[in-house]
Amino acid sequence: MKGISAIILAAGQGKRMKSSLPKVALPVLGKPVVWHVAQAARSAGIREMVFVLGYGRDKILPTVEAFGGKVAIQESQFGTGDAARCGLAELSAGAKEVVVLCGDAPLIRPATIRSLLASRRRRGAAASVLTGILDDPAGYGRIVRNPDGSVAKIVEEKDADAATRKIREVNSGTYAFDRAFLEKGLPRLSDVNAQREFYLTDLVLEALAEGTCVVPLAAADPDEVRGINSRRELAEATGIVLRRTIDELMASGVTVIDPSRTYVEPGVSVGQDSVLEPGVLLLGKTRVGRGVRIQTGCVVEDCVLGDGAHLKPYCVMTSSRVRNRAIIGPFSHLRPESDIGEGAHIGNFVEVKKSRIGKGSKANHLAYLGDAVVGKKVNVGAGTITCNYDGIAKHRTVLGDGVFVGSDTMLVAPLTVGKGALIGAGSTITENVPPYALALCRAEQKVFDFWVARKKPELLKKAGLAVPAVKKEGK
Ligand code: UD1
Ligand code: CA
Repeated sequence: MKGISAIILAAGQGKRMKSSLPKVALPVLGKPVVWHVAQAARSAGIREMVFVLGYGRDKILPTVEAFGGKVAIQESQFGTGDAARCGLAELSAGAKEVVVLCGDAPLIRPATIRSLLASRRRRGAAASVLTGILDDPAGYGRIVRNPDGSVAKIVEEKDADAATRKIREVNSGTYAFDRAFLEKGLPRLSDVNAQREFYLTDLVLEALAEGTCVVPLAAADPDEVRGINSRRELAEATGIVLRRTIDELMASGVTVIDPSRTYVEPGVSVGQDSVLEPGVLLLGKTRVGRGVRIQTGCVVEDCVLGDGAHLKPYCVMTSSRVRNRAIIGPFSHLRPESDIGEGAHIGNFVEVKKSRIGKGSKANHLAYLGDAVVGKKVNVGAGTITCNYDGIAKHRTVLGDGVFVGSDTMLVAPLTVGKGALIGAGSTITENVPPYALALCRAEQKVFDFWVARKKPELLKKAGLAVPAVKKEGK
C-alpha cells in the first residue's frame, strides 16, 4: 500500500518483566514480541517501517533489519507522544498516512490494521484508534466516548477517577493517522499529567480542537489489544499466537492430534495430510512436506522433511534434510548438515552429523556417522562408529554403494570403502578398502575345549547345568 507507513514504539524497558532484555525483545514463539507487530504491519501491506528504539536497542536491531526498517532513537522515554515524534522525523516524504503501533502488543492482526485505516478514511477523520472491550481493563487507558460514538478523550489509568476506571473499553495503543494532522498535533502535546509524560493519546483533544475527530474501532477479538507487561502476559500471548498458528495449519489440511500440546513456530510450514502427534516441537524455518508423520516428542529445528517421511517418537534434529519416505527414530539425533536419502532408515540411538546418507541405506541401531558420505543401499551395522576426529581435525568417511558394514565396526577416518565391499563385524578399519573386497580386522578366536567344566564348574552348577565328566588337563 503506497503512502502508508508504520511507526512502531519500542523504546521502553518494561521493568515488570524483570529481564536484562528490553521487553519487546523477549520471545513469543521464538520471535521477539516486536517482530510479531512488524509482521502484522507487513502482512497488512505496509512497506515503510520506523522503529523507535531506546533501551537495549542493539537487541532489537536484528528485527529492524529483518523488515528493512528504519531506526529512530529516543534517548529518554518521555512518553508515547514523544516517541511518535521521534519516529515521525524519520518517515519519508511519501508517507501520507501513518499507523502507530505499540511494540509490546504482538496479537494485532493484519486485517485489523487494514480496517483501522479504512475507518479513518471513511470518515475523513484525523485519526482512528483500535479499542478493545476487556473484562479486566486495569492498566490500560480508558476510552471515553461522545454521545455520537466518537472519542471524547482517552484517560490513562493513573489519571482516571473511579467512574472512568469502570469503563471497560480500552485503548490498544494502535492508531491510524493522517500524517498532516500528526505533524501539527505532536508538538502541541503537554506533559502535565500523573506520569509527567507526553501522551500520544492527548491527540484526541487536538483533533476535536481542529473540528475533526478520532474514530474508535472496537476489535472483534479483544485479545488483539493486549499489551505485554509481565511474564504471565508473555506466556498468555504465546499461547494465543500458538493456537492461531495451529488453527491455520489445521485449516490447511494438517492433522494435529492435540493442539494444546503441540508447538509450532510461525516460520514453519507443514504440507497437507501430515500428522503431528502430541509433544512435537517444530521450530525455526522447518518445512514439512505432505503426508509426513511426526510422532510424539520430536524436536525439529530448521529442517526440511520430504513427502511421506516418518519420524518415530523422540527424534531431535537440527538444520538437516530428510528426504521422501525416509524413516527416522525412535530416538535418533540428526545434527546440522545431515541429509538422509529417500527411503533411508535411521534407527534408535543413531547420531548423524554433517553426513549424507544415500537412497535406501540403513543405520538402524546404535551408531555414530559424522562427516560421512554414505552411498545407496548401504547397511551400517549396530554399533558402527566413524572415528572422524583425531583431536585436531575432522576427517571424512566415504562408504560406496552397497557396502555392508558389520556390527561394532570402527571406521577410522580419513577412510574410503569401495562399493560392494564387506566389513566383518568387530573390525577397526584404518586402511582404505577396495571395491567388492572383504575387510576384517580383529584378533583370531581361540577355543579351549571344556575349559569351564574343568576350571569353573561352579558357574555351571549355578546355572542349573550338569557338569560334564572331562579328562584331567594334560591327559
Ligand atoms: C499506552 C497508552 C494506553 C494504552 C496502552 C496499551 C499512552 C499515554 N498510553 O500505555 O492508553 O492503553 O499503551 O498498551 O499512550 N514507548 C516508547 N517511548 C516512551 C514510552 C513508551 O517507545 O517514551 C513504547 C513502549 O516501549 C511500548 C509502547 O510505547 O512498546 C507503550 O508504552 P507503555 O509504557 O507500555 O504505555 P502504557 O502505559 O501501557
Ligand atoms: Ca503497555
